[in-house]
Formats: sequence, structure tokens, C-alpha cells
Amino acid sequence: MPFPKPNLIGQSQAMQKILELANKVSDVDFNVLITGESGVGKELVARSLHYYSSRSHRPFVKVNSANLPSELVESELFGHEKGAFTGADKRKTGKFEHAADGSIFLDEIGELPLQLQAKLLQVLQDRCYHRVGGQKEVKVQARVIAATNQNLDKEIQEGNFRDDLYYRLSTISIHIPPLRQRKEDIPDLVVFFLKKISDKNKKPMISIPQSLMDIFYEYHWPGNVRELENYLNRLSILENFRELEEEITASSHKNKHGADKKHDNPAKTSKKSTPEPEELDSFPSLKEVRDKAVRKVELEVIEKVLLHVNWNRKEAAKILKISYRALLYKIKELDLSPPGRG
Ligand SMILES: Nc1ncnc2c1ncn2[C@@H]1O[C@H](COP(=O)(O)OP(=O)(O)O)[C@@H](O)[C@H]1O
Ligand SMILES: [Mg+2]
Repeated sequence: MPFPKPNLIGQSQAMQKILELANKVSDVDFNVLITGESGVGKELVARSLHYYSSRSHRPFVKVNSANLPSELVESELFGHEKGAFTGADKRKTGKFEHAADGSIFLDEIGELPLQLQAKLLQVLQDRCYHRVGGQKEVKVQARVIAATNQNLDKEIQEGNFRDDLYYRLSTISIHIPPLRQRKEDIPDLVVFFLKKISDKNKKPMISIPQSLMDIFYEYHWPGNVRELENYLNRLSILENFRELEEEITASSHKNKHGADKKHDNPAKTSKKSTPEPEELDSFPSLKEVRDKAVRKVELEVIEKVLLHVNWNRKEAAKILKISYRALLYKIKELDLSPPGRG
């Protein structure tokens, strides 16, 4: 299967700078270190570097330094010879060998045990290594791209990361800021993910009401782009109204206060809501944001349908594919009333 084309979305100045830099360095063999919080797109940038390099038809091998038990990392990276240690009943090729003259992506490099940091440094300096328990020299041909969500300066100060390895890895360093610092990217990302979801499900693209976009801007996205993508995936599933309803009923039990707000005129309720200043101060949890968002979407949909059918509730229930009783319950819960009778 050919290596899929990575799509790096983002009009923000920060993203544009990264794209420019990535473009410049994609075809030079310098080691690249990509830093940034989890979910900001480090792996995607690494894949882009590979895709736009002359190595794109060669392997891209990802190694997650955090997932491996420390005694296995060395053999995982560099392979071992038969009989190198107990349990090594076969010769094993390591990730560096798999990567050949492609790219090797060392993810979560900050988690690499100190002892292996020394080994990796040596390998990067000599451009060759021995398999564990082996005699033969194996050449490193792969381009090395590393990533971390840790603050390596701090790790170096605390003695957890070797500064000489840091300098070796970061000939070029690319820092990807968290999503909350480049909120301008949110609209494009939303469109990109919704399009991807609709292509995948072969369904029309769902649209996001302004009220929900407002919430997206308000939220601080600790899980960054990954969290946004997951959220939109969920939302597209919830588009199925029954599931949406279950979700709402479950969350409204835990979140009763949301139902207390009075809407004196349903036509008014779709008006853009401005967050209270104190709301902006404290970051809401994603669950709160989600509950709030789902409520808003639900309110807008039910309201629209009711207006459409002139408040014929039987008709509205049919369109919404929920039972008549469920709709009556919703109307009461959301405090909806026909225009002019509120
Ligand atoms: N700028 C972007 N444009 C499009 N998709 C993105 C972007 N940044 C991140 N993503 C997507 O978000 C998810 C998380 O990105 P990833 O590269 O795995 O983050 P990290 O490695 O920093 O944890 C992936 O599905 C990725 O494709
Ligand atoms: Mg990652």
C-alpha cells in the first residue's frame, strides 16, 4: 500500500511557519526533533517530512519508546542475534533495520531509558551499530525523526535526558503549539474532519451550528487536535437521533441545572450566547462542554422541526424519529413552547 498523503491543515501563522520549515527540511538528511503536547500533530508532521522527501517510497517506521519494557527497547531498536539472551531463540531484526533507507520515527523519545540514550547517541554519531549479541556492524541509513511531548530542557536539568543526545537529535527542531494557542485553525480543522467523516460514512456532511463553534473557541482542548477529531467523530454518530437522545437523557440526569434556564421565546433561543466572564476564567471539562453542546444542538434541531410542522408534535416526533412521548418529555425538559404562547 502506498504511504498515504498526510494532510496538514492550518492557516494560523504558527502552522504556516511549520509547513514552510517542513518543506525546507523534508529533503535534507538532518535529524529533526518535533516537540509539542500530545495530539498537536507531531506524528503527522513526521509523516509529512517523510512523504515530501525522496525517501517517500521507502519505509516509514514508527517506534514508541514509551510502550516498550526497558530491557526490550534495545533489541526492538537494533535487533538481536540468536542466543543473545534468554528467550532469544531466533535472530531478530530491529526497527533501524526495518527502516532501511527510509525514515525512522522515534516517538516519545523523552521516555527512552538513560542507558539507551547513550547507545542511541553513539549509533547516531557512528552511523552504525551491532545487533544485541552480534559481531557484525550494521549501517544506519535511515533518516531520524524524533518527537516528544515532554519539556526536554527540564528533563535535561533534572538529569533524565542527555543533553548531548538532545543536540544530536535536534539539528532541526519543530515546535507545534497547542490548539488553544492557534484557535484560528479550528474552523478549517472542523471542516476537514467533517468532510473526512462524511466521505468515510458516505453521508452528507453534518453542519456545526454557530453556538457549538462558539463552544469550540471557548474550550481549551487539553487533548488538542486529536480531541477535536474524536469529538467530531462522536458528534457524527450522535447525529442518529436515538443515540443523541440517550446521550442527552443520561447526561441531563447528572447535569440538571442546565434545564433550569427559561427561554421566554423559542425564536430567541438560537441567538448566539455570550459566555459569562467567569465561565471563561475556569476551563470547563470536556464532558461539561459536550453536554452543553449536545443540549444546544438538540434544542436547535427540535425547535426547527417544531416550527417547520407548525408545532404539530405527532408530525415532529415522526421526523425526529423519536416517540411522541419522548418528544413531549423533551419539550418539557428543554422548556420549549410555541411562538407567542411562551
Ligand atoms: N494540522 C492538522 N491537520 C489535520 N489533522 C491533524 C493536524 N494535526 C493533527 N491532526 C490529526 O490529529 C490526530 C493527532 O495527531 P498526531 O500527529 O497523532 O499528534 P501527536 O503525535 O502530537 O500526539 C491525528 O489523527 C492527526 O491526523
Ligand atoms: Mg503521537
